[in-house]
Amino acid sequence: MYRTHLNNQLNKNNIGEKVTLTGWVNNRRDHGGVIFIDLRDRYGITQVVTNPENFIEAHNIANNVRPEYVIQVTGKVRQRPEGQENNNLKTGEIEVLIEEFKIINESKTPPFEIDKDINVNEEIRLKYRYLDLRKQRLQNNIIKRHRISKIIRDELDNQNFLEIETPLLIKGTPEGSREYLVPSRIYPGTFYVLPQSPQQLKQLLMIAGFDRYFQFAKCLRDEDLRGDRQPEFTQLDIEMAFINQEDVQKIIEQLLIKLSKEITPQKNIITQPFPKITWQEAMENYGSDKPDIRFEMKIVDVSEIAEKTQFEVFQKAIKNGGVVKCLKVDGGNSFTRKEIDDLTEIAKNHGAKGLAYIQLAEEGPKSTLVKFFTESEIQNFIEKTNAKTGDILFFGADHFEIACNSLGQVRLACADKMNLRDKNKLAYLWVTDFPLFEKDLVSGELSAAHHPFTAPREDQMDILNSDKPEMTKSIAYDIVLNGIEIGGGSIRIHDQKLQKKIFELLQITPDKAEERFGHMLEAFEYGAPPHGGIALGIDRLIMLLLDEPNIREVIAFPKDSKGKDLMLGSPTQIPKETTDELSIEIKNK
Ligand code: AMO
Ligand code: AMP
Repeated sequence: MYRTHLNNQLNKNNIGEKVTLTGWVNNRRDHGGVIFIDLRDRYGITQVVTNPENFIEAHNIANNVRPEYVIQVTGKVRQRPEGQENNNLKTGEIEVLIEEFKIINESKTPPFEIDKDINVNEEIRLKYRYLDLRKQRLQNNIIKRHRISKIIRDELDNQNFLEIETPLLIKGTPEGSREYLVPSRIYPGTFYVLPQSPQQLKQLLMIAGFDRYFQFAKCLRDEDLRGDRQPEFTQLDIEMAFINQEDVQKIIEQLLIKLSKEITPQKNIITQPFPKITWQEAMENYGSDKPDIRFEMKIVDVSEIAEKTQFEVFQKAIKNGGVVKCLKVDGGNSFTRKEIDDLTEIAKNHGAKGLAYIQLAEEGPKSTLVKFFTESEIQNFIEKTNAKTGDILFFGADHFEIACNSLGQVRLACADKMNLRDKNKLAYLWVTDFPLFEKDLVSGELSAAHHPFTAPREDQMDILNSDKPEMTKSIAYDIVLNGIEIGGGSIRIHDQKLQKKIFELLQITPDKAEERFGHMLEAFEYGAPPHGGIALGIDRLIMLLLDEPNIREVIAFPKDSKGKDLMLGSPTQIPKETTDELSIEIKNK
């Protein structure tokens, strides 16, 4: 037997017992004659100590060990001397006096310290991920991740869901992002595609009669990366038949409440049941389709007042079919010129042409724009936004989405400045009634806002058939946590005729539709039940629950922010024999 106990197990009750422990040397302290070692494993730390007077051989071996050596020690558990207890450790009352000491394996000096959570260059951390993962914080993240999956599996099992695996080598699923391709050796010149999500397969499972399905699905998307995006990530993928939107939401809500309570009991879910707002309301009030509602700071439409002012920027925006939106920030009169410039930069980075503002100073409204407004117009702005002395008003004049979105970003930046984004608050929110389509402002072409299988709302059929189908609202919903989209889903089309109509609007010709989705259209002919579902971004959810700044911290082996695996060194070039075998020719760049 390698060990009798784990490194979190020994306490006062074991005093006098002879035990054998194994693990890594977390650190070693030489106290003039006596050597202390913090012995670490996944479970915890136990202090083991040598005494040259009684066990000189063990002491001599201990003299040679360095951090991260793998060791095995045998000895008696004893109480620590008074005043030497460590309340931060489960084993802090005792230590083990080493009688036998074995070095199982040596270790080079690691490229960074494992026993301290200090900032280390991420490239080095990812190159030596197996060492990085030894750190307590990352161990905890991976362990919690396991707990989260376990809770989800148990809960869904209780609710009659079946866990069903779907293949990774499939055919293209046109859901928006670029796909990774896998060349077929047996059929030269043809390719499998790695799934962006098991969307079509889970719908086919509904047609197959498995009315409650889930899976922890690896999704692969060849897209530009950000902190909360990885080229491969995990979804909790769910699909249900004979349900409506509320049924899906109820399941997810129960699950998220359970997870939050068990994983982060110190955090407070601010509203239950989770609030629901439409996409339109989210954009209007928060300038975002994933609003952070831990704080109020709503955006207000002031188009009617703005239109009548002499400020050309406002007049023009409205004449061009746009809007003027206003964000009041409580206490924002204290922002410095530099702070306002930074906020202006943020607005511009999100498409705005500028960020007009009025400061409500003690001595009266201040702004370079005051000359364009009459006193009563300023008063109207103040009343409409419920502003008071000490506040600031920011304005966005543009097309609806740019005006809302840019002010939405300014709203978040102001909240950060004012510490309104409290990590111990969990603000879950449903955003519903997304537009069915997105319209390209230049070409006028429609694309699916969620994916092409999303059903329009039943009361929207006239709009879908009108000359403005882009106004159609769908039965698509997102679940948002603290301003981050943690999941999205929809009720699907289960009627072949309607599906064909949507393809037509997306300018997918019948031939193309047949080629790309023939299997779906055909399946719809064999008794497709009404169905719908959702997918939660598991990495993002765990990141938020564990207060991590990005999803790489909660994935065992993530890619770096540029899509590279720094540990394995992928992507790599492939030997010519292999590409020849696959009938692939590599162009020299
Ligand atoms: P969607 O594309 O909205 O929906 O994805 C669902 C959720 O997955 C997470 N997510 C990501 N997480 C990490 N890295 C990425 N690159 C990434 N992309 C998305 C987000 C998102 O909310 N098939 C549909 C779901 C459905 O309709 O049932 C789908 O994939 O948290
Ligand atoms: P300008 O007329 O470009 O000198 O801008 C005057 C003020 O209005 C500046 O504070 C700009 O940041 C702001 N501004 C310009 N265009 C817009 C716009 N479309 N929306 C909001 N503010 C704007």
